[in-house]
Amino acid sequence: MPVAPEQHLFRALTDAPPTPLVAASMLGADFSRLGAEALDVMQAGCDLLHLDVMDGHFVPNLTMGPDLVAGLRRACPGICLDAHLMVQHPQEFIEPFVHAGADHLTIHVEAEHPQADPRATAELIRKAGLTAGLAINPGTDLEKILPYVADFELLLVMSVQPGFAGQSFRPEVLAKTEALSAAAPSGVRIQMDGGVAPVNAEACRKAGCDVLVAASAIFKAEDRRSAIESIRGPVSQADS
Ligand code: DX5
Ligand code: ZN
Repeated sequence: MPVAPEQHLFRALTDAPPTPLVAASMLGADFSRLGAEALDVMQAGCDLLHLDVMDGHFVPNLTMGPDLVAGLRRACPGICLDAHLMVQHPQEFIEPFVHAGADHLTIHVEAEHPQADPRATAELIRKAGLTAGLAINPGTDLEKILPYVADFELLLVMSVQPGFAGQSFRPEVLAKTEALSAAAPSGVRIQMDGGVAPVNAEACRKAGCDVLVAASAIFKAEDRRSAIESIRGPVSQADS
């Protein structure tokens, strides 16, 4: 029986204070023990789980589908599941991921299909009771996303070309992030994804990011708790 989003105990993106949140990208986990890996990174201090959904068309890789998300929902009741849809036809997948128990769906501004219109897709996601995000790739001009900044709860700046974990962070996206963060209404989360690690997290936060996604830097760390805390950085008194 799918769990309705409003029944989840904790919706990290909307209910949490505006402190930096850390999302573990499950693409970096050991897939032979996915549920245990998810619980481990949450116990180590992550705020939410980031699930990279790839369709083999929008990006040259295949990863997670609704059944896998449903499995993680069973393993992790009450944990915010943020699905990053790197797919050409996002509207086709809203219902399956809602039923799977996702809390949040991010689509891409580059998905070019009549049924990928960002504003219409955001409305469908919200109608289903979830929050919506819009992602932009490193090579895409900021102008492409600006008309939609008020239509989403979250804006995702990709700091690698999407498709694979383990790539190097592209510092040139920081200027774009700063401009996007200045243009977005207050309360809209700014997320960074790709090569995020303790060494560049401060620059991401300074550019305005308040949701930092990491796969390799968390799952490959010897001490996951300390990696997560370094990525999060200092939490102000007002936020704690
Ligand atoms: C890339 C994915 C990322 C990726 C991050 O297409 O969207 O979420 O898993 O992996 P790292 O942190 O290893 O770059
Ligand atoms: Zn992602």
